[in-house]
Amino acid sequence: MIRYSISDAVAPSDCMIIPVFAGKRFEKQVSAFDAAYGGVLSRMREQKDFVGKRGQMSMQYPADHTSARVLFVGLGEEKAFSIRTWKQAMGAATIAAQSKKCATLQYLLTAKVAKKLGAMQAARSLVLALEVAQYSFDEHKSEKSRVTPVQTVHMLIGEGTATKEIKKGIAEGTVLAESVNFTRHLGNTNPSVMTPTYLANEVKAMARGNKQLTVKVLSRPDMEKMGMGGLLGVAQGSVEEPKFIIIEYKGSTTQKNPTVLVGKGITFDSGGLSLKPGNYMMDMKFDMLGAATVIGILKAAAGLTLKKHIIGLVPSCENMPSGSSYRPDDILVAMNGKSILVENTDAEGRLILADALSYATMKLEPKEVIDFATLTGACMVALGNERSGLFGTDDKLAAKLTESGDTVGEQLWRLPIGEEYSEAMKSEIADIKNLGGVGHPRYGGASTAAAFLQFFTKNEEGKTPYPWAHIDLSCSYYGGKGKPYIRGGANGFGVETVIEYLRK
Ligand code: BES
Ligand code: ZN
Ligand code: ZN
Repeated sequence: MIRYSISDAVAPSDCMIIPVFAGKRFEKQVSAFDAAYGGVLSRMREQKDFVGKRGQMSMQYPADHTSARVLFVGLGEEKAFSIRTWKQAMGAATIAAQSKKCATLQYLLTAKVAKKLGAMQAARSLVLALEVAQYSFDEHKSEKSRVTPVQTVHMLIGEGTATKEIKKGIAEGTVLAESVNFTRHLGNTNPSVMTPTYLANEVKAMARGNKQLTVKVLSRPDMEKMGMGGLLGVAQGSVEEPKFIIIEYKGSTTQKNPTVLVGKGITFDSGGLSLKPGNYMMDMKFDMLGAATVIGILKAAAGLTLKKHIIGLVPSCENMPSGSSYRPDDILVAMNGKSILVENTDAEGRLILADALSYATMKLEPKEVIDFATLTGACMVALGNERSGLFGTDDKLAAKLTESGDTVGEQLWRLPIGEEYSEAMKSEIADIKNLGGVGHPRYGGASTAAAFLQFFTKNEEGKTPYPWAHIDLSCSYYGGKGKPYIRGGANGFGVETVIEYLRK
């Protein structure tokens, strides 16, 4: 846990972080530091070595100062300033300071930034950025080569900045960051450890001691009783037991219909008998990030004591090839009775989600349903890994989610569902099939996957009885190396957006 302090007076630290806008004039507070440091900032600007461009950084070692180091970090042009710029700059500065083994950090939260973002939001997003940046999945490295954890943070605010708001921002930011990093940690944990059973135990441990959170874990016999043929089918090839994890948060006694969040929990996706080629199997430990996102959202909702009723559904299993694996040409029957022809065992996410969405539709009377899944490579091909795909039947819900994403600096982009995609999933020998494309078996892969899910949101009258959104998590991890502001691995995408959405 990082300890925080705030005041309008400088405190001793290992590194003082000063954000600088590009432009002809420095902000008043920044100018004051420039003077105190003997004009180093002005000289750098004269030489055009550091002009406050986005992503620029310069570390200085001024004599006779309470901070051994000063790190100037560029925020770019004022006109283009956004929450994303702010978070990325503060995250990058944090990682740069850690690389010099700094554990006590000080951040200047300037009057201009506080004004542009709002004091609360500026402080909250600073906390998020720095805590997310300082996290490192290095528990398997020898101790001496691990990253220096940040221990204390001093937030230096301008005179007259509302301290109360800053404090609230820090408190909320801390809860959110802890949840985001929890999601990331679940995702990063290696797949032989992170089994469905382990995941279920992590959820129980997370909820322990919180009276508003209850966890129920269904195992194979329960699934059999309910007819969860999708989840059972995919799980069939693995020695690991499948789990269906139900997490309920009751932060409201008046909200009868819950917001239902569904997350794909494939703890490892080898492709099954339709085995993935070697390079494509790398990173498939992240195939439970939909689940981890849902778990992180529930942790955050409970931590912030949101006055909401939320139910998280996590179907979880492994997708493995073996003598007992489900096979291409098999026909599975999902919980809602729809039969599915398996054309490719690597399109497994939709099969386990079919049961979870059926469960939501048949048992929960949801106010709304949002599902999260690392569902298709096609979504990544379409959007890259800086945005996630958003699908759904309800324009209002989709617009609100997009807007909530913009508020916290996470990007969603709407992609279509529609008749042609649904038609492409129809089969001659079963109700639907798990592979289909428009014009070619793989064309429109992200949309046909979404259209497949849509079948399981429908009730007996063929209607989706709630607003539904599906998020294909093309932005959920950075394979290999990370970015200047976040280390590689899972990035926790979605937690902040949904919390923002829920509180609106
Ligand atoms: N888990 C993958 C999707 C994925 C791939 C997520 C790469 C992140 C990075 C999913 O289960 C899958 O294998 N999908 C197939 C679907 C195809 C067989 C229709 C895909 O995307 O190739
Ligand atoms: Zn797959
Ligand atoms: Zn998968």
